[in-house]
Amino acid sequence: MQPHEKGFFTEEDSVEVVTGRNAKAKDERLKHAMAVITRKLHEAVKEIQPTQDEWLETIQFLTRTGHMCDDWRQEFILLSDILGVSMLVDAINNRRSSGASESTVLGPFHVAGAPELPMGANICLDRKGEDMAISGRILDTERRPIEGAVLDVWQANDEGFYDVQQRGIQPDFNLRGIFRTGPDGRYWFRAVKPKFYPIPNDGPVGKLLTALGRQPYRPAHLHFIIKATGFDTLTTHIFDPDDPYINSDAVFGVKQSLLAEFKRIEDPATAKKHGFSGPFWEVEYDFTLSAPCPTKAKERA
Ligand code: BEZ
Ligand code: FE
Repeated sequence: MQPHEKGFFTEEDSVEVVTGRNAKAKDERLKHAMAVITRKLHEAVKEIQPTQDEWLETIQFLTRTGHMCDDWRQEFILLSDILGVSMLVDAINNRRSSGASESTVLGPFHVAGAPELPMGANICLDRKGEDMAISGRILDTERRPIEGAVLDVWQANDEGFYDVQQRGIQPDFNLRGIFRTGPDGRYWFRAVKPKFYPIPNDGPVGKLLTALGRQPYRPAHLHFIIKATGFDTLTTHIFDPDDPYINSDAVFGVKQSLLAEFKRIEDPATAKKHGFSGPFWEVEYDFTLSAPCPTKAKERA
């Protein structure tokens, strides 16, 4: 009998000893995941060779991360975000047919129950910031308009804060709204130019970013969840390509295809047509939804 079959621990056989102990797990998916995690984790420990103090510091970091969590603050998701794991899980679960819009992270600032508004509504309730008009179409992969698509949109204000971060300062549901497309698949609404902002960085994840020589900012963006019957739901953003943090998003959410053009419009007649009294920013962006992939549906069944 080999030492690992007896269950005795050695540095060389550490993986086999631990995975062997999990052999009776009934859930095959759990057993497989734990075997992979054990193999990769032991490999990392063997390569890094942490001191006892370093390992204790790692445990204390994870403990502080847990203590930072409550109903509102999820420090473990933030950790997954800055490690690129949230984006990787998103990519794996959102492989789409070619031509479909790309997805990106949901983030912690989505709020259910935003008001449904008519096209053209201004979602900036306090009118603070530089006016912006956003428009485009919701299309299928054959570039046909999708009627009845529902867009849930939200964004930070001109100072980089979401309404839920400034209760009592911003009105409730400021810079949030739901819009439903008609037969032409078109959407349009008004808002203000968003600004870059730091991810919550007053906890252990913020300290880790500093220790790694990284900045905590996300480039300016607008969030969208787009749903339509018969299509995969799309959770995504559009980004301002001229933002100073466009190439260093703290959570790796930027993709080339999600860069929109933010055009400055000075013409008074065009501004008036959009219901603005002066210059404004214009953003046009089409989203393409894909039908669920039949093989994926079969896998799930
Ligand atoms: C956001 O864009 O709202 C966000 C995403 C990930 C972490 C923090 C904020
Ligand atoms: Fe955001």
